[in-house]
Amino acid sequence: MKLTNFIDGKWQEAGEERYTAVLNPANGEQLAKVRMSTKEEVDLAVAAAVKAQKKWALVPAPKRADYLYEIGRLMKEKKEHLAQVLTKEMGKVIEEGRGEVQEGIDMAFYMAGEGRRLFGETTPSELADKFAMSVRAPIGVVGLITPWNFPVAIATWKSFPAIVAGNAFIWKPATETPMMAYEMAKIFEEVGLPPGVANVVFGSGSEVGTAMIEHPDVKVISFTGSTETGSKVAELGGRHLKKVSLEMGGKNAVIVMDDADLQLAVEGILWSAFGTAGQRCTACSRVIVHKDVKSELESMLLAQMENLTIGDGLDETVKIGPVINKQALEKIHSYTKIGQEEGAKLLAGGHVLADGDLANGNYYAPTLFTDVSSNMRIAQEEIFGPVVSLIEVSSLEEAIEVNNGVKFGLSSSIFSRDINNVFRAQRDLDTGIVYVNAGTTGAEIHLPFGGTKGTGNGHRDSGVAALDVYTEWKSIYVDFSGKLQRAQIDTE
Ligand code: UN1
Repeated sequence: MKLTNFIDGKWQEAGEERYTAVLNPANGEQLAKVRMSTKEEVDLAVAAAVKAQKKWALVPAPKRADYLYEIGRLMKEKKEHLAQVLTKEMGKVIEEGRGEVQEGIDMAFYMAGEGRRLFGETTPSELADKFAMSVRAPIGVVGLITPWNFPVAIATWKSFPAIVAGNAFIWKPATETPMMAYEMAKIFEEVGLPPGVANVVFGSGSEVGTAMIEHPDVKVISFTGSTETGSKVAELGGRHLKKVSLEMGGKNAVIVMDDADLQLAVEGILWSAFGTAGQRCTACSRVIVHKDVKSELESMLLAQMENLTIGDGLDETVKIGPVINKQALEKIHSYTKIGQEEGAKLLAGGHVLADGDLANGNYYAPTLFTDVSSNMRIAQEEIFGPVVSLIEVSSLEEAIEVNNGVKFGLSSSIFSRDINNVFRAQRDLDTGIVYVNAGTTGAEIHLPFGGTKGTGNGHRDSGVAALDVYTEWKSIYVDFSGKLQRAQIDTE
């Protein structure tokens, strides 16, 4: 199967023949070949989008939303198929694949509802016989660059608010996971979105991503990925005066206080540290534990880690799938070595799994370090794999300090039954998302998603907040006094 670009409502390519293989991380099998596009194709897509967007912006928002309702309906109809494709190309276990597709369906219906809201505001004017209001206006053509770890959900967080608000988009999915984008393009075609409103261009970040950012007709870039790439996107975008929305790394922690329900904490930690093989921006990679419950928590974690079956995510009994590719495997393993060299104590895992059925996939054993100090690299840097570090503290204040002592600020969590602890923590944890008595993952689509510090640049995906990325505020003053009234001067 060859995955071709979806540009201007047509499956088309331009320029030299270049493709790269899409591999199943569970067994190394080739699933498809994907187009590695050129700048020429980005130019084609942008030209189509510019043309389409002019008309699209004039379609009443509730009508634009009707397409989203239809997209949501089709995604629901094809949910199982989409989840299977997702698991094959990305590796997450099928239950999580279904969950991710559901996240996209939820976003479709939620953003479709915005078609009948998109609220602006009316407010009194300081002058008599004058009316004042502000409305959300579309921006134009937006460029979306999405990661492989949530190949469909994150794309819906960006593309659905973009189109309901009257923009057209060019979407460059990650090279590792183009099949979900291909499936979504088929849905865009099936619902009959006007040609050029939704465009998918496959290819590398250096070629397609750069061409999108540098193109003068692309007004907004929304990016989710690593902090390293994100800062390059911001730098290049800044030079071209783009509005750039960035969603990047995390070093999320679960705090376990001495009065916590330990069994619940263990379940929360295992789910958020090892779910998606630790490859969520929101994954828990640090556990900050009160000294009085440290050894009990350690033994409970160790005992329950034994039940984490590892293998091909299509097998319903498997709890942890592979990591995305060989480079990821190497990076994760290099952190195990770093942790050991730094003096942390390896309690479990710490090695590649390659026996029997796992031989051709990219599997890493769920890994638990303890006696980690908060300044070690394994406690500071994003590993993006199934590795978690236990850090001991003696008070809530210290726990919060450790939580906040990293360059990222996406998600955090506290397990405690003390209401005072909980309320202090939700106020003082410097992250965009805080969980109480739940792990660090599991954001719902109608709340803002994003983080502080090195995680982002102040924008949010999801929720109504996402509309701020894809709209421009326009303030409108209507003077019906029939005379010149000067603001700030003729107010008496
Ligand atoms: C991500 O890893 O970038 O909250 C997204 C969660 C998911 C989304 C994660 N709903 O874990």
